[in-house]
Order: sequence, then C-alpha cells, then structure tokens
Amino acid sequence: MRGRSANFVGIVLLPPENRMAHRPLIVRTLPALRRTIKKWRGGGEKIALVPTMGALHAGHIALVRLARRRARRVVVSIFVNPTQFAPNEDFANYPRAFDADLAALENAGVDAVWAPAVDEMYAAGFATRVVPDGVAKAGLEDAFRPHFFSGVATVVTKLLVQCAPDMAVFGEKDFQQLKVIEQIVADLDLPVKITGAPIVREPDGLAMSSRNAYLSTQHRAVAPTLFRVLTDCARRIADKAHVARTLDEGGIEIQTAGFGLDYFELRHAQTLAKVATTSNGPLRLLVAARIGRTRLIDNVAV
Ligand code: PAF
Repeated sequence: MRGRSANFVGIVLLPPENRMAHRPLIVRTLPALRRTIKKWRGGGEKIALVPTMGALHAGHIALVRLARRRARRVVVSIFVNPTQFAPNEDFANYPRAFDADLAALENAGVDAVWAPAVDEMYAAGFATRVVPDGVAKAGLEDAFRPHFFSGVATVVTKLLVQCAPDMAVFGEKDFQQLKVIEQIVADLDLPVKITGAPIVREPDGLAMSSRNAYLSTQHRAVAPTLFRVLTDCARRIADKAHVARTLDEGGIEIQTAGFGLDYFELRHAQTLAKVATTSNGPLRLLVAARIGRTRLIDNVAV
C-alpha cells in the first residue's frame, strides 16, 4: 500500500462550540414547546436547559457552552419573571435585548429559545406558588429580597416541567439560588441533573451580570472592589486568619469604597449554614452590596 493517498477521507467531529451557527427555533407557546421536546425525545436526544432572563453576556454563553458539551439539544429560556421582583425592584427597567440575545445564541449553537409571554407562563387565574424553605431561608438574599426565592422557585419548577430537560445549568454567581434549585429538584423528585457553572468575570474581576449595565462610569470603576476583597479575605481565612475579624475588616473596606453592605458572610457551601471557623468545609464567602442604584452579588470558594 502506498502512503496515505490524496483521496483519503477522514471524518472530523468538531467540538460543539465549533459546529456551524444556526438560527434557534423561537418558541412562544406551550403546545409548540411540547411538540419540539417530544420530537427530540422520540429521537432519543438528550436535552439541556439554560434558564435566563435575557440581556445575555459572556457568563450566559459559558452556561450554554457547558450545556452543549453535555447534551445534543440545548434550550435557552428567556423570560423576565415578574414574580421574583418586589414592587420596588427593577422589573420594568430590567434590560431586555431579545434581538441581540438571539444573535448571541445563534453563534453559540442553541437549538431552541423558549420565550413565553407573561400570560403564557402565568395564565389568568394562576394561583400556585412553590415556597422553598431550608437554604432559601439562610439569611442571605432572602433577608433582603423576601419575595425572591418563591418567585424563582415557582418559575424554575415550571420551566423544568415545561422543558423536561435531562440537565439544567445555572451560574454560581447566584450561589444561594443554585442551592435552592438543587434542593427543590431533590425535594420534588424532579428527574433532572442540576449543574452549577463557574462565575465568568470581566478582566478586572467584576462578576458578569446583566445588572452591570446599570453602573455609572464612576461606580463601574469601584465595582471590582468586591472581588478583590472577596479573594483577599478568602485567602486570609484559608490561611487560618480569625474569621470574624477578617470579615469585619473586609466589610469595612467594601463600605469605605462607597458601597452599602447587605452582607459579607462565610457559609458552608452546601447547607449555607453560618460558620465561625474553617474546620467544617467546604466553605463559600458571599457578598451583596449596593452602589448607586445597582445591587451586586458575588462569591468565591474558600
Ligand atoms: O438567574 C436568573 O436569571 C433567574 O433567577 C432565573 C433562574 C432564570 C429564574 O427566573
């Protein structure tokens, strides 16, 4: 046999992120969603869901990429969920960028975008809420946004039932939300694997968030303080510094930079229980702080 001939044919399987961009199917109604899911299931295809409220950034696209590596079909939901906003919060002003979102999802190789109207998600007469306890009452986000987790729990439960995915991907930036969703799935025996994805950061360390769009130039310059203080305090705590003193000093540094501090706490990474020492890990250091009209949250592993 001669050396490999010029007409040798090879098949190269491109990784999912390199597959050709295709316009995702935009699904607006439940019957259409069910037909699509049924067809994929009939073909034995694995389905991943990435729930979002749109205004997508590189952090969301990282969730999509992770989903693409694990499943043949990826559904991204885009739904600004009114039930997780209090009346004094930013539901009306929450950034909405459907066309730009679609373009980003097309490039990321998403199969379908589930984008129901509010009355498709919450039909007239809707009267059921999922009200999580346990990690949802850890005294972190719930202490400052008491309505938040029942809104998230209700809509995420509905999304999981509607899309019936094999897996769903959530960002670790909303760390307590991720734990609440893991708990709901376990408690309600939902047949879906929940996967947490690492936080994606700007080059200066600021955690990517749709709400970063609210930051003025001046506040944007100060915003990376949160990540700097988080990483500095996490390192000190891991090096056995006194926990309460380190948290106090970190909190003061955050406030001195101009933030109003909601919380800066060391918690058990699974139960979110308060911890005073480093002896019982895994541990997570979490912060929520306000600057101008923007509330930022962030966290790191210790
Ligand atoms: O994290 C979010 O974007 C939302 O809370 C979620 C999970 C999509 C529910 O509306």
